[in-house]
Amino acid sequence: MRKLLVAGNWKMNAGPTEAKVLADEMAEIWKGKQFSHEALICPPYVSLPFVVKSFRDSFFKTGAQNVYTEDNGAYTGEISTSMLKELTCDYVILGHSERREYFQETDEFIAQKVSKSLSDSIRPILCVGEKLDERKADKQKEVVEKQLNTVLNQVDEKHADDFVVAYEPVWAIGTGETASPEQAQEMHAFIRSLIADSWSSDAAEKVRILYGGSMKPANAEELLSQKDVDGGLIGGASLKADSFSEIMSIAEQIGK
Ligand code: 13P
Repeated sequence: MRKLLVAGNWKMNAGPTEAKVLADEMAEIWKGKQFSHEALICPPYVSLPFVVKSFRDSFFKTGAQNVYTEDNGAYTGEISTSMLKELTCDYVILGHSERREYFQETDEFIAQKVSKSLSDSIRPILCVGEKLDERKADKQKEVVEKQLNTVLNQVDEKHADDFVVAYEPVWAIGTGETASPEQAQEMHAFIRSLIADSWSSDAAEKVRILYGGSMKPANAEELLSQKDVDGGLIGGASLKADSFSEIMSIAEQIGK
């Protein structure tokens, strides 16, 4: 049985002061309440220690938005998995389309980061997804297959429980336009079939596949109800405590 993962990607928003206020608000809303799934917030690095502290007595988990492949050394500007572990982070977002686009991250480099994270017990959330022109040319499956298989070929299926994929169609990120529930389900089922082919069907059943791209309270229920949608990776709507909490409540009602 896969637990839903409701994850917030704050991107380059919310410095320490704002992040603390926002995380405190979220913790307060859920104080004393049960959440049977997993809730995760991924703030910018500099805000991470503050968010970790705000969530100290809550079930909220924390994650980073990137990590490097080495343990330490002369890599100016980078941070390592051991640093994230020291902060008690559980997750790291890898291969986000913004990193692929603006920082020229390749499938190969992303695969190395995924391997490194898994071997150091930080759960990677691997983002995959096609651009608008690729969708228009009906190439979305081809694109996602290449992004995913590069990683699956380098990772052992024993990590299935800790490996998370986020399908984020680039045309739906920050645009207000979402994939339809049918489009999301079709791609999620395809992703699961690729995992079954590369690893095994047992492993494929364990991997959680999140949807990302303009998820908000108004569309969360229909997306999260899809059979192969195991949660959301939420940008804009995770920057408001009430909208993120509302999506968490929807996940709680859906159960699964
Ligand atoms: P939005 O929810 O703002 O579209 O962002 C999605 C995203 O990129 C999460 O990683």
